[in-house]
Amino acid sequence: MSDNAEVSPVNVSRETELTERVVASFANSPNTRLRVVMSSLVRHLHGFIREIRLSQTEWDTAIAFLTRTGHITDEHRQEFILLSDVLGASMMTVAVNSPPHSEATESTVFGPFFVDDAPTIMNGDDIGQGMVGRPCHVRGTVRSTNGDLVAGARVEVWAADDDGFYDVQYEGARLAGRARLHTDLAGHFDYWTVQPAAYPIPHDGPVGQLLAAAGRSPMRPAHIHFMVSAPGYHTLITHIFVEGDEWLGHDTVFGVKESLIVPFTVHEPGTGPRGKLLRETWSSTSFDISLAPVSDDPVN
Ligand code: BEZ
Ligand code: FE
Repeated sequence: MSDNAEVSPVNVSRETELTERVVASFANSPNTRLRVVMSSLVRHLHGFIREIRLSQTEWDTAIAFLTRTGHITDEHRQEFILLSDVLGASMMTVAVNSPPHSEATESTVFGPFFVDDAPTIMNGDDIGQGMVGRPCHVRGTVRSTNGDLVAGARVEVWAADDDGFYDVQYEGARLAGRARLHTDLAGHFDYWTVQPAAYPIPHDGPVGQLLAAAGRSPMRPAHIHFMVSAPGYHTLITHIFVEGDEWLGHDTVFGVKESLIVPFTVHEPGTGPRGKLLRETWSSTSFDISLAPVSDDPVN
């Protein structure tokens, strides 16, 4: 933290003393982690207020913004997560919690559209029925970072349709474009869906107002979400991104990683994987996943 050069020595000493008093107020907490977290939070927060010389009006504006963020949040809409996402806080949390394995598939942001009880499907099933968009076959394998195939890994997938909407964003109880499947003995999984499209994050609330005020777009590049878990491995939360998407360089939640961009190949009508008859063009992609074994974690 750097003290503003124009702040009088009297104010500098008052401000420094206040920070120390507030930090000290947490010093007797029996919870060591809480002490560490609150002491750092107070120092950074006070440092931020001092660095930008926050005005009372700006503080009131910030409180009003957070109040609106709270008011719009309910069990369907989580504006605080969106705020964390557009500030890069979600991706920074992902970064500091990534397994220290350069061979493991990279993680990215979870997002608000996961549903816990998605239907369990068999490999080869179609979860794109009733969805708008070009049929798309997704296949892949799950391995350990040491190269061993992982059979029975749980692979949860969810994605938006060609209009850029998740099933849960439509009126009525609709489940589509999401599923839970398991790798076979060869560590393989595959399913049919529709090719996802780029879409804006919900931007009709305070986070949207912040983006608009900053001249930022609410768009995310087209992607499919994956959550992959298996006993003995770190759970992987990630996406694949559609190569060539115009928003890859401007993801409003900073979730894109080069290693997660994959080609989606377009095919002429005909017979596709699993003998599926296609009367329209269709696409296919593949995603080979590497999970980090928990046993490889450094011992603290
Ligand atoms: C998503 O990819 O589903 C998402 C992530 C962050 C904010 C909004 C949506
Ligand atoms: Fe998404």
